[in-house]
Amino acid sequence: MKLFRMMFFSLLFVLIALPAFSAGRLTYYCSTDIPWCELMKKEFEKRTGIRVAMTRASSGETLTKIRAEKSNPKGDVWWGGTGDPHLQAAEEGLSQPYNSPKLKELHDWAITPHKATGGKTVGIYLGALGYGYNKELLAKKGMPVPKCWNDLLHSAYKDEIMMAYPSTSGTAYTTLASMVQLFGEDGGFNYMKGLHRNISQYTKSGSAGIKASARGEITIGVVFVHGAVKQAVKGFPIEAVAPCEGTGYEIGSASIIKGARNLDSAKKFIDFALTADVQSMAAQVKSYQVPSNKNAVSPPEAPDVSSIKLIDYNHALYGSKAERTRLLKKWDAEVKVLPR
Ligand code: F6P
Repeated sequence: MKLFRMMFFSLLFVLIALPAFSAGRLTYYCSTDIPWCELMKKEFEKRTGIRVAMTRASSGETLTKIRAEKSNPKGDVWWGGTGDPHLQAAEEGLSQPYNSPKLKELHDWAITPHKATGGKTVGIYLGALGYGYNKELLAKKGMPVPKCWNDLLHSAYKDEIMMAYPSTSGTAYTTLASMVQLFGEDGGFNYMKGLHRNISQYTKSGSAGIKASARGEITIGVVFVHGAVKQAVKGFPIEAVAPCEGTGYEIGSASIIKGARNLDSAKKFIDFALTADVQSMAAQVKSYQVPSNKNAVSPPEAPDVSSIKLIDYNHALYGSKAERTRLLKKWDAEVKVLPR
């Protein structure tokens, strides 16, 4: 009888615990730097007991992946990466609305994408676009010190600059859209053609250029300013530049994927990601974007974005499907094909 009772209660425990356990999963797509992606995974697992499967890919690549999986969604939440592809995902019906109780703690710039998409995406950080250069290489090769976007067109930098493909990388798309906003449609494309002549290699991921520059493989990487500062803080001879003409910026974003199999876990992840102390943890992995929660703390090493001349970046337009698709196609047809 005793044995029977023990078996009964063990079975009952399994029956109660199993569904709760299998509900505790999350498939998480991450589009920022791997150490930060992993820190978020680990911390979320620690706080909630939910098991996380993570895939890291660049912003444009992740949008392509979510679109390809539309009829059979595999991901639950997409965290990080530039906001424009998140806006496009919302427009294409690839993400779904969620009103986190944390929204009231956020800066207005983080709420704007949420309002614009009926709640389908929300800002998690802000970062100014710029570039970084390797001071030692620059001096060794006797190159002029660049301070502006236009300086990068100088022939002294031929084969000395790396950037990513605008179609895969949110950083590179922000660069293209920023140049069009700074210099006009023709001026912006002429700029991209001039820059193309000096590019040694296009990469998939936005931060690859500055990492190569830190290793001394290339002189200049076109990246977000915080990406260059990160390498300098790590001890590499990198100087971050906020270009003199002014520059564009990203609202790094997060979205719940439409058809998420683990919707409750995805909502919990968004609440977690918008929490002040979680956002403050970014400094542990030297990620220096401006956090969207007003109570999160930025370390002194983080770039002071208020001192950078930011353009009035039109996220609604450049995050729209029509405009993003048009610019990417035009870049492929008119810039990528040119000889270098
Ligand atoms: O490395 C961090 C970061 O610069 C983020 O600020 C940005 O959202 C993301 O990378 C963009 O990455 P990618 O250009 O590879 O899409």
